[in-house]
Amino acid sequence: MTSFPRPAEGTWTEHYPDLGTGPVSFEDSISPRFYELERDAIFRQTWLSVGRVDDLPRNGAWFTKDIVAARTSVLVTRDMDGAVHAFHNVCRHRGNKLVWSSKPTQEACGVARQFACKYHGWRYGLDGGCVYVHQEEEFFGIDKSELGLVPVHCEVWAGFIFVNLAETPRQSLREYLGPMVGALEEYPFDAMTERYTFRAENNSNWKVFIDAFQEYYHVPPLHTQQLGPSYRNPEATFEAAHYQLDGPHRVVSTSGSHKHLFPEEHLYPTEALLRSGNMGPWEAPTIDRALAGVNPGGVKRWGIDNFQIFPNFELLIYERNWYLTYRFWPTSYNTHVFEADLWFTPATTARERLAREYAAITVKEYALQDAGTLDGTQLGLESRACASFPLNDQEILVRHFHKTVADYVAAYESAGTSR
Ligand code: FES
Ligand SMILES: [Fe+2]
Repeated sequence: MTSFPRPAEGTWTEHYPDLGTGPVSFEDSISPRFYELERDAIFRQTWLSVGRVDDLPRNGAWFTKDIVAARTSVLVTRDMDGAVHAFHNVCRHRGNKLVWSSKPTQEACGVARQFACKYHGWRYGLDGGCVYVHQEEEFFGIDKSELGLVPVHCEVWAGFIFVNLAETPRQSLREYLGPMVGALEEYPFDAMTERYTFRAENNSNWKVFIDAFQEYYHVPPLHTQQLGPSYRNPEATFEAAHYQLDGPHRVVSTSGSHKHLFPEEHLYPTEALLRSGNMGPWEAPTIDRALAGVNPGGVKRWGIDNFQIFPNFELLIYERNWYLTYRFWPTSYNTHVFEADLWFTPATTARERLAREYAAITVKEYALQDAGTLDGTQLGLESRACASFPLNDQEILVRHFHKTVADYVAAYESAGTSR
């Protein structure tokens, strides 16, 4: 894999001349028309991470994922042979949403052998095949074998389930992920099965929240209380250690704050008591497998990698042997659903369990601090008071993300496939 060391001269941004260094417009985050283009150009073209194999814990398990931006709901199943499938969650009879539990507008999960449509009772197997048509003889020459659920391209990589709603995806998932993200394939994600989940409905464009996780420039002013003592000053400076781009994907690595190394008087009493904090539980579990693909920049006191897998999936891997996923699902040009999941090796003692709970609460706290700026940023952008905004070198990933989005939309428009 090509390495991307910090440039000896110049800046991170100048290392990627295509990005330019000029001010950036965020019209892409406030334009209803642009959002309509993104729906087709991005959410119906790229590989989207919809879950993990852990969401299908046994044969017959299923879950639904509503992808509003792509105008569909997807049903993901594990059949009785263990194979993972994805389908449009739409009944072939008259288009009813096939699988839902309490409300058709909510996602659901469960275990089943078959799915029965709530409208007229047609039934489908875990492999999508239509197995029962109520009063079949009253139809006119239908063939059940041609009335299976409409499949969606689905591939599993490192235990993450991805779907692609294009008729023919331009690349396989592995090609799409490229060498930088692909290098994580053997990372021991499967050893980390203890999960903590958060979900929020936010009032901003999906990209505005993603931008909050692409740089650490905002850390001293916004997250003052979660840093080490030397940073508990809004005027402190903080810089991430490594930035890297690979195709549409990005990573930022940081040394983070190694609180487990701090003297006790610099810690909150809860941190000292629970031996945990914003970098996770201090006692990192031993994992006797290589931590493949992490710290691509060879950062000396590495703390976190934040891999940003285009378009809306983030994988944050911590030096303390746990990881975090974020997914950002647009629901309109200025609203989105945010999903966060923390993954740890299973706790073996009550102390370990408490340390994980404390890490989960800390993540929620700083995500709330980040989310707290969203309405304000969206309102400010929508005022259109400013036509463009200056970005500094630490905001290289913001610059790259918006350029990538623009490139996808431009390619889609020039292909003349716009609806
Ligand atoms: S719409 Fe599903 S059985 Fe009629
Ligand atoms: Fe933040």
